[in-house]
Amino acid sequence: MNLKIAVLPGDGIGPEVVLQAKKALYAVGVVYDHEFVFEDALIGAVAIDKTGNPLPEQTLNLCLNTDAVIFGAVGEPKYDNNPDSKSRPVQGLLKLRQALGLYANIRPIKPYNDLLDLSPLKRKIIENTDFVIFRELSGGSYFSEKKLNEEGTVASDLCEYSEEEIARITHLAFKAALKRRKKVTLVDKASILETSRLWRKVVTEVSANYPDVVLDFLFVDNAAMQIIINPKQFDVVLTENLFGDILSDEASVITGSIGLLPSASYGNSNALFEPIHGSHSQAKGKNIANPIASILSAAMLLEHFGLHAESQKVYEAVQKAIELNVVTVDLNPYSKFGTNEVGDFISNYILSKDDLLYFNNDNVYIGQSTIV
Ligand code: IPM
Ligand code: MN
Repeated sequence: MNLKIAVLPGDGIGPEVVLQAKKALYAVGVVYDHEFVFEDALIGAVAIDKTGNPLPEQTLNLCLNTDAVIFGAVGEPKYDNNPDSKSRPVQGLLKLRQALGLYANIRPIKPYNDLLDLSPLKRKIIENTDFVIFRELSGGSYFSEKKLNEEGTVASDLCEYSEEEIARITHLAFKAALKRRKKVTLVDKASILETSRLWRKVVTEVSANYPDVVLDFLFVDNAAMQIIINPKQFDVVLTENLFGDILSDEASVITGSIGLLPSASYGNSNALFEPIHGSHSQAKGKNIANPIASILSAAMLLEHFGLHAESQKVYEAVQKAIELNVVTVDLNPYSKFGTNEVGDFISNYILSKDDLLYFNNDNVYIGQSTIV
């Protein structure tokens, strides 16, 4: 298969982790005979620095004309902590999600057995947890009307949803449930919010097309508690944009580190793959960021294109790294391995190399297949 992939490393630890995802994909290409052509583009603070725009037109055009996008992270204190700053790096990502029509963000939550004791939650509560969050990504308070009065003393964020916006992600969630344990939990606040009541109505209607799937409802405050006290009850969690953002960070606690969690975002004709973590600027350039979330996002990319054996290989390589403790310091404070070494190990495992800890990074860029 030939795939053209836009790579948007962004800010903070984004470039370091994305490089490891590229290495893993490059290795998959070599082993399974696929050609993945990467093209890098600017987004976030680095884009503001160079062009004044967090999502330069060139970047958007590239993303619109590639098969998939790999995204790192955006965010930089010099813009984020400055209320007078006209552009914020995060606008680059939000505009991109909107422009690509990425309405469904999928976040799997499944802890590794070897890491269960890393979670502050008890082993018996979290082991065998396996659920996936379907977060609506292009509507709600993120994208509805925002207001600030002239004095700057009163502000509001509207939260708007249409039936169509709810129905399209609901279909995806039910289709996913059919391939899993056949349960969808809609998380909302229908006792208070009009939008939540519309979600319940539309989701109930859509559910009639999937008689084999059980649908239940949970208020978001209760859901936040249930994720911690009984996460095994969930199969597919369906929810609106802001609730999904909050609950997925909370759910990452089950896995022991947010640095492990990938995500995939789908629209009608575009797909973007990104870790759920942010840019973590303090860790930038220190070779300590966990690359696994980014590498697993690449595995989700492979799965999206029907490359199942290939994505399985990436999962297997990650599993092996964790099993052998070739991990970054978030997973093992005494680890001597950094971002790059974990990435090397995973790529070389995919390549079945004997020497699993060294990989020639330059080749990823020049597109040659020589690995040393
Ligand atoms: C995420 C992030 C983003 C979000 C930010 C960076 C805009 O937190 O992908 O979860 O809020 O959606
Ligand atoms: Mn988030």
